Amino acid sequence: MLLLTIETSCDETAAAIVRDGRTVLSSVVSTQIATHAEYGGVVPEIASRKHLETISLVVQETLKSAGMEFTDIEGVAVTQGPGLAGALLVGIATAKAIAWACRVPLVGVNHIESHLLAPFLEGPVEFPFLALAVSGGHTHLYQVDGIGRYRTLGQTLDDAAGEAFDKVAKLVGLPYPGGVAIDRLAAKGDPAAVPLPRPLLHDGGFNFSFSGLKTAVLNRLQKHPDDREGTALENLCASFQAAVCDVLVCKTAAALESTGLRRLVVAGGVACNSRLRSEMNSLSSRMGVELHIPSPSLCADNAAMLGVAGDYYLVNGVTSGFELDALPVWPLDAISERLDIRGV
Ligand code: KG4
Ligand code: ZN
Repeated sequence: MLLLTIETSCDETAAAIVRDGRTVLSSVVSTQIATHAEYGGVVPEIASRKHLETISLVVQETLKSAGMEFTDIEGVAVTQGPGLAGALLVGIATAKAIAWACRVPLVGVNHIESHLLAPFLEGPVEFPFLALAVSGGHTHLYQVDGIGRYRTLGQTLDDAAGEAFDKVAKLVGLPYPGGVAIDRLAAKGDPAAVPLPRPLLHDGGFNFSFSGLKTAVLNRLQKHPDDREGTALENLCASFQAAVCDVLVCKTAAALESTGLRRLVVAGGVACNSRLRSEMNSLSSRMGVELHIPSPSLCADNAAMLGVAGDYYLVNGVTSGFELDALPVWPLDAISERLDIRGV
């Protein structure tokens, strides 16, 4: 099946053409980062307007670079949630219009589900696996038994890992999105230079907490204002990044041990982080676990990643009607219902 996929859940306007849920024929991502950077974070109203301005061009560009016409499309998959309501609605309205005009089926896909399945675009992955979803809005550990079969093992009780990166970056005066800037400075710093807490490292089951770590950075800055510059800033970034990675890696190791799962997927924007990637690689060698972390372009928000679940659902007759609406909050555990109803 040749699928057109559309993603507008946050500040990236993206469209892709994916064949049979595995082969990306084209993928176009138009980022709004420069616009939101002025405000230090994503402004939802501006995000919606930017999506509106850009979506038609992005869809046309992805068709053109795949050498296709609208008439070649056999299905449309769109991010239905979670995400910013107004931003999601732009993608959904576009997807509905194209599906209606082309007389092809339409399906709404969960954004986090798309992140978790992105590794399938780069090679075969077998079920079941443990998945760590780390993005601006999520820090969740899931057991994944198949497409549409997700069980939450743990999640953040406050800030998501990406949110913590972005908030700490703001505290030290780095531009949005903070994760990228902190990663770059951390490469030159000493991760042991600033003592910072590892919240819930050995408590709270598989749950995470990052807001206390952010407060610890704030307290440090009040006592050491010079940490906002030069080598001291590099050391602070490296120490903060190490604290986040330690918690993510330790909880992931505990979940692997407890579930006995032998495969691990790490996905979402924070999976671009260089220290997290290298620590997860070490963990996988140490525990003899098969690791799948998508290439950075497939970790950050994109539309190609929708192709995996989108194809699976449409091929199995799971479609969304034109009443499809945005789901700003949509936990992954709720997804299995849509499959069970249809007996997949
Ligand atoms: O998945 P994503 O692109 O969007 C959401 O679905 O949220 O994730 C965005 C998050 C942002 O918080 C950003 O700061 C973080 O991913 N991020 C990083 C890195 N690149 C992006 N965090 C740490 N290190 C990075 N290299
Ligand atoms: Zn995302």
